[in-house]
Amino acid sequence: MEEYLQTSRFIWYMGALGDPYALLLRGQEDPYELFEQVRARGPLHLSRLGTWVSADHALGNKILRDGRFGTRRADGARVAPQFSSLDDSFLKLDPPDHTRLRRLSIPLFSPKMMAGYRPHVEHVCNELLDRLDLEGGFDLVQDFAKHLPIALIRGLLGIPEEYREKFDRCCHGSALVLEGFVSPEQTEELQLAVDGLYEVFSDMMELRAADPGEDVISRLVAAEREGLLTRSESIGVCGIIAVAGTETTTNLVANGTLALLDRPEQWDLLRENPDLAPGVVEETLRWDSPAQLATRVAHAEVEIAGQTLPEGSLVAILTAAANRDPAVFKDPDVFDITRNSKTEHLAFSGGPHYCLGAPLARMEGDVAFRTLVDRLPQLRQTGPVDRWVSASARGLRHFPVAAR
Ligand code: HEM
Repeated sequence: MEEYLQTSRFIWYMGALGDPYALLLRGQEDPYELFEQVRARGPLHLSRLGTWVSADHALGNKILRDGRFGTRRADGARVAPQFSSLDDSFLKLDPPDHTRLRRLSIPLFSPKMMAGYRPHVEHVCNELLDRLDLEGGFDLVQDFAKHLPIALIRGLLGIPEEYREKFDRCCHGSALVLEGFVSPEQTEELQLAVDGLYEVFSDMMELRAADPGEDVISRLVAAEREGLLTRSESIGVCGIIAVAGTETTTNLVANGTLALLDRPEQWDLLRENPDLAPGVVEETLRWDSPAQLATRVAHAEVEIAGQTLPEGSLVAILTAAANRDPAVFKDPDVFDITRNSKTEHLAFSGGPHYCLGAPLARMEGDVAFRTLVDRLPQLRQTGPVDRWVSASARGLRHFPVAAR
């Protein structure tokens, strides 16, 4: 608690002194002006908080792929506090453990598996819209975008109906784990949610050990039997799928729909040609990235971008800012669903931790935007959005809309 208060005061103080990174860490409704302030300080600068910060696409991409940087300290120590073995996911591991666990998880996201999930996503999208009061208006996040990814993840993990309420509640509550920096009140809430998910996964692993199916948990239990990973690592894999795969995708659908409704000419383009839906996905990921930054630690002294970073230096790559780097993207502040960029954005990070669920997220976004424009061509915003203000995630809590 005392450590939190000290860190929090330090961030507030440095923010008050005008440090753009400290201001970003406080969480902002609109981070884009601050991103430009970071960019103006050069490709890599030392913030007043002692963290190196970059908004540069080429450099960010390079650091994410550079083996001299890891997600933990060189001695394996964590940078952020651990919440339980659920937090033991490979997102926060370095080689060789990261490589072993990631390799084991890759088949769970194969193109064949992906093709199998698409009809399920289409079905869920349509079912969600069928249940809505289209005449009276609805909340695009609470009534639609929030339910789509979690329904898919439940199916993927094989979570049965009797665990549905607990799984959904704990999954939403655990999204805070992606923050890295949370208040004492949030820490308590987060701990309860993470413990709840741990209980669901432990129960499911026992059930699937006795009665295996085709789901991810059954596959993990089988791999455990072959000695390929431990129970705690299996739970970590389930945890990262549940946490990384839900809120982010909800935010992709919400941010993209808001950008489209704010620009009727873009909505009309999609309405005339629904095959532009993958373009909406890519442009939303670039222009209003659901995941805003990735942090790394130098495992040795590193000379990069004209700077010398001592071992243990923290580097924050502002991927959402890099996605608006004018050196890479023409007219970067313009939202254009027909943009055909040669260079990929960094919304899914880069290098060894490149988002494993990217094909799934892309497919879900594609289906969601197609279904919305097909079923609700007159969709319009009816009131102000309520934004989720966070340093690492960008999305909406409420988005009032009407279908006519
Ligand atoms: C729009 C949706 C999504 C976004 C923006 C997103 C973004 C990211 C980012 C930025 C990272 C890497 C963070 C870093 O380098 O520190 C990541 C990692 C990861 N994501 Fe996603 N993600 C999305 C959807 C999903 C989905 C649907 C799943 C699975 C169902 C998923 C599973 C993972 C996993 C397992 C990792 C860890 C990869 C590793 O460490 O090797 N993500 N994601």
